[in-house]
Amino acid sequence: MIVKHNLIFILYSLCASVFKGGQGQFPITQNVTVVEGGTANMTCRVDYNDNTSLQWSNPAQQTLFFGDKKALRDHRIELVRATSQELTITIGDVSLSDEGLYTCSLFTMPVKTTKAFLTVLGVPARPEITGFTKPAMERDIITLTCSTSGSKPAANIRWFRNDKEVHGRKEVNATGKSFTVRSSLQFQVDRRDDGAAYTCSVEHVSLSNPYMTTEVLEVHYAPQLQIEPSLIIPQEGQYFKLECVSIGNPIPEPVLWSKDGGELPDIERMIVEGRELTITTLNKTDNGTYRCEASNHLGTSSAEYVLFVYAKDFPGSTTDPNAVAPHGPDHALIGGVVAVVVFITLCLIIVLGRYLARHKGTYLTHEAKGAEDAPDADTAIINAEGNHVHAEEKKEYFI
Ligand SMILES: *[C@@H]1O[C@H](CO)[C@@H](O)[C@H](O)[C@H]1NC(C)=O
Ligand SMILES: *[C@@H]1O[C@H](CO)[C@@H](O)[C@H](O)[C@H]1NC(C)=O
Ligand SMILES: *[C@@H]1O[C@H](CO)[C@@H](O)[C@H](O)[C@H]1NC(C)=O
Ligand SMILES: *[C@@H]1O[C@H](CO)[C@@H](O)[C@H](O)[C@H]1NC(C)=O
Ligand SMILES: *[C@@H]1O[C@H](CO)[C@@H](O)[C@H](O)[C@H]1NC(C)=O
Ligand SMILES: *[C@@H]1O[C@H](CO)[C@@H](O)[C@H](O)[C@H]1NC(C)=O
Repeated sequence: MIVKHNLIFILYSLCASVFKGGQGQFPITQNVTVVEGGTANMTCRVDYNDNTSLQWSNPAQQTLFFGDKKALRDHRIELVRATSQELTITIGDVSLSDEGLYTCSLFTMPVKTTKAFLTVLGVPARPEITGFTKPAMERDIITLTCSTSGSKPAANIRWFRNDKEVHGRKEVNATGKSFTVRSSLQFQVDRRDDGAAYTCSVEHVSLSNPYMTTEVLEVHYAPQLQIEPSLIIPQEGQYFKLECVSIGNPIPEPVLWSKDGGELPDIERMIVEGRELTITTLNKTDNGTYRCEASNHLGTSSAEYVLFVYAKDFPGSTTDPNAVAPHGPDHALIGGVVAVVVFITLCLIIVLGRYLARHKGTYLTHEAKGAEDAPDADTAIINAEGNHVHAEEKKEYFI
């Protein structure tokens, strides 16, 4: 009996010692996030362990390392540390297909496992902008498309026009484990877009700074002309210059000058140099309409200037910028005269009004007299009524 009892005790002790590890804790791991191409560091720890081996296995349940023994022939997988308390391995040159649940097992009875998720971030490719036509024609409708492939999770694309954000239409497609993201901007080209910088920016968790690609738009548009005179009040004998200021892309060349619909007079005083027409000494015979015309491959445009040569000592035509405008005094004079006339008229109306009002009073007195002059009461009433009607008519008239 005692022997039997001892045997049971011994068996119990053996079992207890075998299962001792089982009383320990589960291995401790951490989820790992790594950028594609980087190195994943997989660490597994146990606080208490009596020389029981730790093991790492991949999402396909293949053993990578069992203690310090390499189990899978993959040169990217290396041992960092293998002790009874820790098993750390690294997986180099990580690819998107390495992503998944990795398992760390502690070979006690029963086996205790903990899983760690390895997240692999797909790095987006540098963005490319397509759809640029160089140059673009004004009023063309163009679509700029920026695309980036290989991101995981899908990258974000933003558009900027001269650093101001504009919104495009986004499209995301999955290609294998990564994503291709595309964003399109469609707009009608305007001359203000000439020289505008369109930037596509790709933002992603794997990038500390966004990737940016910029394209500068070149827009061709028809010329737009304007004539700028060197003097506001040209006088006889002065030096005078007209400049034909043109904008347009390509820059409109050459500039053609004409006067009153015909050729420029062939005189020494008049010199044409490209967009400038110079008259060395102004003469009244230079009066007329000057026109400049320029074209590029998108069209022709013109501008006109009517030259009016003032007499030599025209008042107010000094070059002093503080001088009063030539028509200033005239306006003031006219204004003064008008004010005086209005004032006199008003006075006349008031005086006339008072005079007539007094007359109305006289009429009303006559009305009262009607009753006295009448031979009888009836006539008096008729007279009075008649006069009254008269008075009212007058009253209306005065008002
Ligand atoms: C991996 O982790 C171990 C332990 O934390 C550390 O010693 C080692 O430097 C790490 N290696 C890499 C490549 O991060
Ligand atoms: C673990 O193994 C080492 C030798 O490999 C040994 O010296 C040590 O006593 C063992 N520890 C336990 C708790 O079994
Ligand atoms: C690890 O990742 C898995 C899968 O993404 C998730 O379910 C789990 O909660 C994560 N664990 C920790 C500790 O973050
Ligand atoms: C996404 O897929 C659709 C349909 O297959 C295709 O028309 C489109 O061009 C794709 N877009 C991208 C960004 O690859
Ligand atoms: C203007 O031209 C006429 C004729 O060409 C000439 O007789 C006159 O002297 C000129 N006047 C001035 C101010 O140059
Ligand atoms: C030019 O204009 C001035 C100012 O009106 C006028 O006196 C002169 O006669 C004009 N000359 C010609 C040639 O039209």
